[in-house]
Parts: sequence; structure tokens; C-alpha cells
Amino acid sequence: MTLRFLSTVAIAGLLLSCAQAKEEKTTNLIQETVAVAEQQIGFQTELIERSGKVLIPRTVKNDKIQYVSIEDWTSGFFAGSMWYMYDLTGNEKWKTLGVKYTEHLDSAKYLTWHHDVGFMINSSYGNALRVTGNEAYKEVMIEAARSLATRFRPIPGVIQSWDEDRGWQGKRGWSCPVIIDNMMNLELFFEATRLSGDSSYYKMAVSHADVTMANHFRDDYSSYHVVDYDKIKGGARSHETAQGFSDASAWARGQAWAIYGYTVCYRETGDKRYLSLAENIYKYLFNHPRMPADYVPYWDFDAPDIPNEPRDASAAAIIASALYEMSTYTTNTVYKATADKIIASLASPAYLATVGTNHHFLLRHSVGSIPHGHEVDVPLNYADYYFLEALVRKQKLEATK
Ligand code: GLY
Repeated sequence: MTLRFLSTVAIAGLLLSCAQAKEEKTTNLIQETVAVAEQQIGFQTELIERSGKVLIPRTVKNDKIQYVSIEDWTSGFFAGSMWYMYDLTGNEKWKTLGVKYTEHLDSAKYLTWHHDVGFMINSSYGNALRVTGNEAYKEVMIEAARSLATRFRPIPGVIQSWDEDRGWQGKRGWSCPVIIDNMMNLELFFEATRLSGDSSYYKMAVSHADVTMANHFRDDYSSYHVVDYDKIKGGARSHETAQGFSDASAWARGQAWAIYGYTVCYRETGDKRYLSLAENIYKYLFNHPRMPADYVPYWDFDAPDIPNEPRDASAAAIIASALYEMSTYTTNTVYKATADKIIASLASPAYLATVGTNHHFLLRHSVGSIPHGHEVDVPLNYADYYFLEALVRKQKLEATK
């Protein structure tokens, strides 16, 4: 054996043990994070079970857990987290709770006064159907899609997000406001077409995605939060914000909804334009000079006091989950590597709660809406939901390697 051969063998051995060490490190990260989740979410569900009611924890205010009604846009995420805990642990306890908390949301399928029925029913019943195959859940999904379809406005070709005459939104002079978040409701439409055979849901989803692609994005692929359309004549009337720093700014969670939403649209249609848009949003986000080194964005990329602005862990979790899915559609390894880096940050003590703290939520440091003075630097149930979803996706990707 020559010296050269021996050193080649030694280098190969070293590389192999580095790869094994990396794999073990990521397995440990998932296991350790799931162990924290089992305890934290376990405490949360014990509190609920002891109350004798079905409660839906959304966030924390004045040191108290805030529970919401089933009409709240976040009502499906806690039930959805039960299904991801079941995926991650195989423990039947989470399945039993998943059924109970999901079925509590049954009447949400009739909700027509805002667009969020897609978020609510897809995160709860969508996961319940995926795991159990229960026929009754199919009907709930189809009924919810019928409700969402009542908000489709054929002239502009979009699903109207908010009523123009209700609440604080009613004071903005809008005709047909559409927020980028609405991209997340399309998954319900695609699923409803599969379940019912009625292609009208698919067509509405594609129309909404195309009109949003044409109107919601700036030249640098950042997204506006709100585009107001003319319900009668069609076309965009204005480009604004509701939850971002300004009309011209890039609200972090909005960018997260955009990259996630177009990844789903590519999955469902195979239309390369959607994947290409998601890739361009990725470039905007991860080449941005104000993207922090740990990849957990500030609540708005244009917030005036960066680096002294709150981070938004919810945006990071949504982006990570989207990137794991995107990584399966291309040979570019950067998407999974970036998602892994986000998850390593979120699973670190900087964001992941120590067991027994954080009012039994998993992640710290999310933002609801700074312009409304609402939920600043708090835990949020949807940050936890997308974090768990990202862990499920990471685990599956690594198991199939
Ligand atoms: N869909 C509302 C939000 O992202 O805050």
C-alpha cells in the first residue's frame, strides 16, 4: 500500500465520520426538540382537559394564555399540531386529542365572512383526513371549500380576503381587499377538487394564484401585503399594508405566506412559473442585507430600527417548512440547507422555550401585528404549528435519504 493510498483512505474515513456525525446531530436535534414538544404541548393539553372544555390556545397576553373561538383565523392550528405530534411520535394520545380538537371545529366549515376558512379547516381537518382517511372529514373539507368559494370575485378573478364594510378593514375605503396570506387558502381548493371531482375549485385557485402573481409582487420579488381590486371593473386599485411597516415595505410573514403558497401551487399544478416565483422569493429573502445571520427575520424587512426590532419566529417557521417542500422539486441543495439552518436556530434556546415556561407554547419571539399594537414578541400557535410541520418534513426527507 502506498502512502498516497493510505492518506486517501484516511480522508475518505474522515469524511464518512463527519457525515455520520452530521446525521446524528440532526437526528438528535429532531429527537430533542420533539421531547420538549411532548412536554410543553402535553402541559397545554392537560390544562385544557382539566377545564372540561375544548379550548384553543392562540398566544399569551398579560401573562395569561389567550384562548380563541372557532371563528378566529388561528382556530385550526392547535388541532393541527396534535396531528403533527402524532406524526412525530406515533403516540396514540395525540391522535385521540387530534380527533377531539378537530371535530370541535366542525361548524367553521360554514364560515363565509372572511377568507381564513382555508387556513382553519385545512390545518385541522386536512391533517385529520390525511392521517385517518375518515370519509366524514371529506365532506367537511368540501363544505369549507364551498364557503370559501362564496368569496371568489369573478371579475378581478380573486378570493376577497376581508369584507370591505366590516371592522377596522371597513375604514380603509377598499372594494375587494386581497392579502398575500390568502395564497394559503388555495390548498383547500385543490384538495376539494380532488375530493369532489368538481374542477371549479381548482380553477378558482389557479385564477387567484395568477392574478396575485401579476399584482402582488414588486420587481425585486418582495410582496405587498394588501392589493385592493375593483370588484366591478376588475384590476388593482391600490397596493397597501395592514400588518407591515408601510405600503412599500416587505412584511416578513407576508413573504413567508408567498413562498409557501406558490410552492403548494407548483405541487398541485406542475406549473413551473409558480416554482420559479418561489425561487425568486427565496433569492429576495436570503440575499437581503437585513436577513439576520440566524435566518429568523425581523418582523418587517424595512422596519426602521433594525437591528433593534422584534424578530418573527412564525415567519421563519413557515419559510422553513416551505423550503423543505421546495427542496423536493429541484436538485438545488440550498433549499434544504437553508431550512436546516432555520430549524437549528428555532430549536436553539434563543427561540425554543425551556420546558415549563412560555405558557406551554413551543416557540418564543413571534409577532402578530405591530401596527395594531397586537401580539408583539409573543408565542403564537401558528409559529408552533409550522415549526412542527417543518420537523415532520425534515424527518421524512432524512429518512428517505
Ligand atoms: N393571516 C394573518 C397573519 O398572518 O397575521
